[in-house]
Amino acid sequence: MNETHTVVIFGASGDLTGRKLIPALYNLHLKKRLPEPVNIVGFSRTVMDDQAWRDKLKESAKKFAAAVFSEESWASFGSSLHYHAGDIGDPASFVSLAACLDTLEAGGKESSHRLFYLATAPEFYGPAAEQLGAAGLSHEEAGKTRRVVIEKPFGTDLDSAQRLNGIMHRHFEESQMYRIDHYLGKETVNNILVLRFANAIFEPIWNRNYIGYIEITANEDVLVGRRAPYYENAGVLRDMFQNHLLQILTFVAMEPPARFDAKAIRDEKVKVLQSIRAMTEEEVTENSVRGQYRGYRDEVEAALGGIAQTSSPQPKPEETHAGPDRESRTATYAAMRLFIDNWRWKDVPVYLRSGKGMPCRSTQIVINFRQPPHSMFRTSIDEELGGDRLLLQIQPAEGIQIHFMTKIPDSDMKIRMSELNFNFKSSYSGQMPDSYERLLLDAMNGDASLFARNDEVEAAWKIIDPVQKIWDSGAMQNREFYEIGSTGPSHATRWIESLGHSWYDICPVV
Ligand code: BG6
Repeated sequence: MNETHTVVIFGASGDLTGRKLIPALYNLHLKKRLPEPVNIVGFSRTVMDDQAWRDKLKESAKKFAAAVFSEESWASFGSSLHYHAGDIGDPASFVSLAACLDTLEAGGKESSHRLFYLATAPEFYGPAAEQLGAAGLSHEEAGKTRRVVIEKPFGTDLDSAQRLNGIMHRHFEESQMYRIDHYLGKETVNNILVLRFANAIFEPIWNRNYIGYIEITANEDVLVGRRAPYYENAGVLRDMFQNHLLQILTFVAMEPPARFDAKAIRDEKVKVLQSIRAMTEEEVTENSVRGQYRGYRDEVEAALGGIAQTSSPQPKPEETHAGPDRESRTATYAAMRLFIDNWRWKDVPVYLRSGKGMPCRSTQIVINFRQPPHSMFRTSIDEELGGDRLLLQIQPAEGIQIHFMTKIPDSDMKIRMSELNFNFKSSYSGQMPDSYERLLLDAMNGDASLFARNDEVEAAWKIIDPVQKIWDSGAMQNREFYEIGSTGPSHATRWIESLGHSWYDICPVV
């Protein structure tokens, strides 16, 4: 068929484009998964020609796709890259973009598929949608799909997310919109669905009758560093909870969808978010803890000083700047207890936790099963370890563990916790693909299953907003500061223990 595909990247000279998007598209090209013919068009204000953009991206590919890079394959991929200098605030830039796309697609007019990727700072999402609409670039007709991918953060609270949805919907149908959360492109996150819905052994015990509590952790050893000016406005709740952690939670808690399609999956996810118990001010205090690592405030100051003096290095595209604040209240660590008020999960605590400056990087889900109702073995040496556990290791180790009781051989019926281990790397050959590969391809193919719908995003903000509001209203307390490399503020451990539970941690994760 006479068909062309085009990906237009707004924010083409930004960090995300060089670090993630182009390496992902290059990998897809090497795997021969990109549709043919394809054009990748960069749009940003920097004035340069096609060759200058290709050269710049080649350097990024050498760095961020080092394992697969070769001069030969880059030459064949590089020829699909084109650059169009333009300003999101300038309607003429979009008129000329439209002409540029028509020229590139000449010969493929019968059927043309365009994907507009908004990898800019978030304040440009709305204006870009307006300009695309005004230039007629959002208009679909038979054989001509027009889709838009929007990076996170989608708004900074419920109001701003609703406003942005309003603007986007003036120009794009919901079915044309792909709100990206890169966690949903991770193989191990997708494997949660496979574990739950491609096996029959887990479903009967996947409920309040067998599960005591759930922990979802995304800890990072990195600090905020140069990203401090953005992070100062965001904090851990907006940066990690509203999107990544709540999205993982929906996969863990959703009812089985009837089909693997965007509507069926997203309908079930949104039901989970809408079933999360709302918290009063008092309940927020009881059900959440926060912290800030020592030295964070100096980073904010240093980063702002650095940005004032030099225009490079570039922060990530989503990053906007806040004023310096020696008394910053921004949390770099948070833990929260949620309840999902439905038949499956009623009264099962779900703990979400994320922090920067932790001892190691570790994203994991721990399903803590209830203890047997009665034990005839009085000789357990591991009683304090609680019940059996299912550990879903998202990263950096990618696998699944089951922790269960075994008899210690040659003992008088002494029992202890043992482990069954599954590891993706030893069971499958090849590199784990980056999540952007899967998500870019899905968006190009029109599969929105792994993208957030407007009602999901808004439901997630409804959960986060009350907590953020209360935190913003109070200064950090002494007990809320923690040392870099520690497991977070000590009161986070006391807090969960006071609720009758404990964190399950392993560091380093191998
Ligand atoms: C981003 C956050 O969305 O996710 C970062 O803005 C965070 O602060 C990152 O470090 C974590 O992603 P990953 O894939 O490295 O776990």
